[in-house]
Amino acid sequence: MSNEKKLRSYEWFGRSDKMGFVHRSWFRTQGYPDDYFMNKPVIGICNTWSELTPCNSHLRDLAEIVKRGVIEAGGFPLEFPVTSLGETVMRPTTMLFRNLASMDVEESIRANPIDGVVLLTGCDKTTPSTIMGACSVDLPTIVVPGGPMLNGRFRGECIGSGSFNWLIKEKQGVENYTEQDIYEVETGVARSQGHCMTMGTASSMACMAESLGLTLPGMAAIPAVDARKKQFAQLSGRRIVEMVKEDLRLSRILTRAAFENAIVINSAIGGSSNFIIHLLAIAGRIGVPLTLEDFDAIGSKVPLLLNLKPSGKYLMEDFYYAGGLPVIIREMQSYLHNNALTVNGKNIGDNCAVSPCYNTDVIATAQQPLKKEAGMAVLKGNLCQNGAILKPSAASPHLLQHRGRAVVFENIEDYHARIDDPNLDIDEHCVIVLKGVGPVGYPGMPEVGNVDLPMKLLQKGIRDMVRISDGRMSGTAGGTVVLHVSPESSIGGVLALVQNGDMIELDVANRKLHLDVSDEELAARKASWQQPAPMATRGYVKFYIDHVQQAHLGADLDVLRGGSGAEVLRDLH
Ligand code: FES
Ligand code: MG
Repeated sequence: MSNEKKLRSYEWFGRSDKMGFVHRSWFRTQGYPDDYFMNKPVIGICNTWSELTPCNSHLRDLAEIVKRGVIEAGGFPLEFPVTSLGETVMRPTTMLFRNLASMDVEESIRANPIDGVVLLTGCDKTTPSTIMGACSVDLPTIVVPGGPMLNGRFRGECIGSGSFNWLIKEKQGVENYTEQDIYEVETGVARSQGHCMTMGTASSMACMAESLGLTLPGMAAIPAVDARKKQFAQLSGRRIVEMVKEDLRLSRILTRAAFENAIVINSAIGGSSNFIIHLLAIAGRIGVPLTLEDFDAIGSKVPLLLNLKPSGKYLMEDFYYAGGLPVIIREMQSYLHNNALTVNGKNIGDNCAVSPCYNTDVIATAQQPLKKEAGMAVLKGNLCQNGAILKPSAASPHLLQHRGRAVVFENIEDYHARIDDPNLDIDEHCVIVLKGVGPVGYPGMPEVGNVDLPMKLLQKGIRDMVRISDGRMSGTAGGTVVLHVSPESSIGGVLALVQNGDMIELDVANRKLHLDVSDEELAARKASWQQPAPMATRGYVKFYIDHVQQAHLGADLDVLRGGSGAEVLRDLH
């Protein structure tokens, strides 16, 4: 019996008192035999399946396969649903609810008789939210990424989900696409279950999980509908049972070295800018010191190896056929902490030591990369005292050093109302400044930073301009876009004080973003600045506005940073 007591779930199912009777008795309604309550690691399968999250619609089936593995290894699988965040429908933005979902995950794990956790993830926020919640409990945990859709197809060509969205205004307004054209794209771009198959945020998050050591090696790129996805899910189910026996908790895997590895890999794959905000939040939960500056210091000198949209040519299915993330990890070994531990109990370097590349047009070598330097630039200056970010590989080289006149939009409604006004005083040298789209302001920091250009400039053939905001950008988008400006405008950051006609200087090489207005003038503007009314006065949204931290800290709620462990202090009677 001594071995049984080591299991956390024994405190529920192993007891011989009244509460042990209660805990077991009601579970018997589901027909479990006696031995399921005795000395079996209980594996919670945390499922983000939802019909409102199409990218995760196959996860209910995948959970059954995970259970198969758990049972084979002698565990007791119990699947539970958590808040699922569907990127394409939730308003005003899934980011507003990432922290809420993480609370759901955390409390569901801690409050229940669970010894180990499998996180079933897919669409953008479903990965960071579940990992954040699991970190605050710190049980043995493995991630099973749901996998990308098959490549989008349109008239004989591959097209990427997400990325095409950002071209629709241009296609309709400039190339005269008809309704039928758009219909064919709409149906051809989403051909199977799975998440976006560009290197957008969902794919970046799956690669983040793998590079942190939280998935079985090779899992991130496998398409959702590939039979091997099921095989890996079953193996993950087997493995989590062993992890419980080994007490291989998240905190043993998520060390500073693992975070540094994830930053290197995100650069090498040309991953999403959203990676930054999610990794900062995860680090905050597990208690590893990580700053915005680390992303530039560790990631910006890393070569780009992966030729995927939005910045390259191919899609996730091609990445999988070329060998997937283990190829990148092997190629990048001189940049990585190869001894970082992963969920399979081996280190990341050994896991990927023999990982042949089957297509060097998709995955380049470290010796001959697609670009010598990828990653994110972290900008500083009076316009962003706590920092802002820009993805140079997604930007136009001729705009990386630029001085331009500000054209200011006070909020998103103001932008929509005026951007296509033929009388708007704007040309391609101007800098589009959008306020009010930060964590507090929108609220929830939506992916609107890559705002469409004015139609009159699109028609002139202009495809990029410098844009600055306190919001985010979709990982499937591109452009010379300064994002995550902190402090945001709605709490009185200098961004709030920018006026039409001010000159703004962007100097990416020197990591500078400067508003060319004197300190005295800024102080005078600040004195007469009025904070916009809060977007909510009750409920979760008020709680979020009152507690959300700024982008440079990961936009987690202040009260959620850190963890409370797996201990439950009181019984239910
Ligand atoms: Fe779900 Fe892109 S919309 S991953
Ligand atoms: Mg997205």
